[in-house]
Amino acid sequence: MVDYAIASENLTKIYRGKGFSVTAVDHVNLKIKRGEFYGLLGPNGAGKTTFTKMLATLLIPDEGEAWVDGYSILKEPVEVRKRIGWMMGETGGRALYWRLSGYDNLVFFGMLQNVPKDIAEKRIRVLLKFLELEDAADKLVLEYSTGMRIKLMLIRALLHNPDILILDEPTLGLDVESAIKVRNFLRRLTDELGKTILFTSHNMYEVEQLCDRIAIINKGKIIFEGTPREIREKVEELKVVEIDVISSDSEINDILRKLEAASVVKKILSYERTKNYYKIRVTVEDHYVAIPEIARILKDNKVESISRSLPTLEEAFLKIAGVKIEETSRRIWRRGGHG
Ligand SMILES: Nc1ncnc2c1ncn2[C@@H]1O[C@H](COP(=O)(O)OP(=O)(O)OP(=O)(O)O)[C@@H](O)[C@H]1O
Ligand SMILES: [Mg+2]
Repeated sequence: MVDYAIASENLTKIYRGKGFSVTAVDHVNLKIKRGEFYGLLGPNGAGKTTFTKMLATLLIPDEGEAWVDGYSILKEPVEVRKRIGWMMGETGGRALYWRLSGYDNLVFFGMLQNVPKDIAEKRIRVLLKFLELEDAADKLVLEYSTGMRIKLMLIRALLHNPDILILDEPTLGLDVESAIKVRNFLRRLTDELGKTILFTSHNMYEVEQLCDRIAIINKGKIIFEGTPREIREKVEELKVVEIDVISSDSEINDILRKLEAASVVKKILSYERTKNYYKIRVTVEDHYVAIPEIARILKDNKVESISRSLPTLEEAFLKIAGVKIEETSRRIWRRGGHG
């Protein structure tokens, strides 16, 4: 366990109250190597926050043990805390002092973490610049947007220069542009500074883009562990064909109806408008049979391409988690196809 940045053994947490008990984390065994960017992916209520809080020594497990940088979360919590930077995206902003400026918050938290004043100030300046928060540094936190508070929390987690970062949905609530910046920043922390990051998310796309390895958690249990590519390969039997077709918004329903009626098409997974054409993803039994048949069915439409495609992480996740794809496809239909 000493060899790993983070290791858990049968880590379990049960929330108990009057007349209820919820096993939020159920005998989780994970090993995260040093320098790894590790994603914990799961839907709402899967146990991500509970798991990361136990690692951060903020919650005591009911069973099992975990080690952070070789230190036991049960027996050496003080050592663990020194070595980690922890943040929670969603509600983490509450942990800041809203009547102080962003800068004063950081100076204060730097002091709490025993960072020498001159070093803290230098780090604060660099990190504010990196996350483009310089201009807001002297404003009160109560004037900050959610995104600005999230960035401030991230800086706070880095002040003592920890080797291991435990980040609970750090991009939740960020606008698209800020989320991209934060992701790039995090990736650089592992690539250039060798930091280990445990990152939780329910956004398949960002996990697929960012992480070296991924675990999928569902109802407190790890249901899959591997690289993003391995996840997609595991669901190879999910044979996907992608069709790009130039179509107006009114024509698309007709195209979808033709595809739905085709015997070679099992399910329409999603359809999405991209510039002047639609990208439609369907599952099929056999590519070799399906592709020419789809071409024939759509011969009067402006088909740009029809090709075999690996399932996206989202499609893979839904399959691994045992969620019926039909259900989500119906949901996408109702939403009008921008899913
Ligand atoms: N303090 C609590 N008391 C009782 N049950 C709780 C408590 N905190 C979490 N739970 C329950 O434990 C389970 C796991 O919750 P957790 O917050 O860890 O999930 P999560 O994966 O972080 O979800 P989300 O994506 O919504 O943040 C859920 O069923 C949740 O309702
Ligand atoms: Mg959570």
